[in-house]
Amino acid sequence: MVIWLVIQIATYLENTVRRFESEDLCYAHGTENARDEAVYLVLCTLGMPFDADTLSLQKPISPEQLELLDERVRCRIEKRIPVAYLVGKAWFAGHSFRCDERALIPRSPIAELIRNRFEPLLKKNPTRILDLCTGGGCIGIACALEFTQSYVDLVDISADALTLAAENVRDHRLGERVTTWESDLFASLPGQVSYDLLVCNPPYVAASELVQLPAEFKQEPRMGLFSEEQGLAIPVRILRQAADFLSPDGLLIMEVGSSSESLLARLGAVPLLWLEFEYGGDGVFALTAEQLQQYRESFS
Ligand SMILES: C[S@@+](CC[C@H](N)C(=O)[O-])C[C@H]1O[C@@H](n2cnc3c(N)ncnc32)[C@H](O)[C@@H]1O
Repeated sequence: MVIWLVIQIATYLENTVRRFESEDLCYAHGTENARDEAVYLVLCTLGMPFDADTLSLQKPISPEQLELLDERVRCRIEKRIPVAYLVGKAWFAGHSFRCDERALIPRSPIAELIRNRFEPLLKKNPTRILDLCTGGGCIGIACALEFTQSYVDLVDISADALTLAAENVRDHRLGERVTTWESDLFASLPGQVSYDLLVCNPPYVAASELVQLPAEFKQEPRMGLFSEEQGLAIPVRILRQAADFLSPDGLLIMEVGSSSESLLARLGAVPLLWLEFEYGGDGVFALTAEQLQQYRESFS
């Protein structure tokens, strides 16, 4: 005879919070503490909304659900797999995205800029937008959802990441306005295209920093994090070429995160405009097409 011990969702949730709190876990992939992490894992696994009411949380967990939850909690603790990969879902700029090991977990502060429609930086609604280093497509897709008349190109060098991006494009029914391109930065893009907005979260982690990152980051594709030359090789390649792909009024928004100090040291004379965020994050700057043209020599 199989004995099924009834456990309520609320009880399982509290137990998970306590287990996470007693472990040395890193919260850097969409949550900031053990409670939010447990809510993310438990409610997503059970297909429940994050604002589930108390009554729903009193419901019992079935044996099949319990088995799946236990396995995911174990993988979070023992293998340090981020919750987004375990549940296959992440949120960015208020939208939900498929998420798995083919691409980085969306977490860029650029989400806040998109929700604010890049005000006051953008003078008018962008018609053509490029999301360079798109990963699973979160930045470009969120832009397409915000600017409903725009056409968006998603570029990545990783075929796996682009397959995930294409799945996200399909989920959001944006196939007519959003296109994926497999390309080493600008190399395979048609030369005659000029974009009003180029948004980019490229790899910018230096080798010395990469080895020190918590185990959770090692679950993500190395290609999405690592860049040579103290993290600056890819960002500077983009700066060198961006002016050729922007319209005269165009704007570049780029995240360089922890490499912002090295970038400042390398490009001292360039007037990078560092942006401030209400909901946290830093290391994102803006440059106009005009400035990219004017300071082109500095990027060589
Ligand atoms: C930091 S991840 C950003 C993913 C996504 N945009 C986000 O914000 O979550 C950087 C992405 O750049 C891609 N990448 C790395 N080198 C590249 C290159 N030379 N050309 C195009 N994409 C590249 C990686 O495959 C990875 O998907």
